[in-house]
Amino acid sequence: MLHHKPQETNVMKTILLAGAMLLALSGCGESQDEKAQSNATRWYTQLQVDKGRAVFRQHCSVCHGENAQVNPDWKKALPDAQDPPPALNGTAHAWHHPLKILKRTIDMGGAPVGGKMPSFKNTLSEEEKEAAIAYFQSFWSEKIYEAWLGRGGLKQ
Ligand code: HEC
Repeated sequence: MLHHKPQETNVMKTILLAGAMLLALSGCGESQDEKAQSNATRWYTQLQVDKGRAVFRQHCSVCHGENAQVNPDWKKALPDAQDPPPALNGTAHAWHHPLKILKRTIDMGGAPVGGKMPSFKNTLSEEEKEAAIAYFQSFWSEKIYEAWLGRGGLKQ
């Protein structure tokens, strides 16, 4: 039979408590991820994301990839470009730009920065452009989305 001194029992209690707290903390992390997928605080609706998926796959995927992660075959669409198109899934810089700048990029394409992205000003409606943005923003984690909001993502 093991007999623990009172101090040893206290130490064991502390260790158990610390373990329980760690479990509780990792549990919190999971529920935040779930929140990220529910889009509860986002400017767009699930309907826009669904519409945007179709717009994006038709007009943008050839360069930016089906899930906005960059198409590995992008050179077929941009044979004379040096740099690959940026990922729009929150892993590159798109989140540095407020909504109105994202819209302007879709309107003007890469011309203002000497780039190769085509202009969609006359190809897509305002609704379709917003839906395409909603679609690629749906891949942004809660952390990235909040950082974007913090930088004035929705400021006019
Ligand atoms: C032919 C390839 C091509 C297509 C098609 C294309 N893009 Fe792009 N896109 C690029 C490239 C390349 C850039 C970087 C700027 C440049 O070099 O023109 C870019 C930049 C962007 C940016 C700026 C990202 C940042 O981090 O600054 C956004 C937003 C964007 N594209 C959205 C779209 C959307 C939405 C569509 C579809 C409606 C689309 N693009 C279609 C090639 C493309």
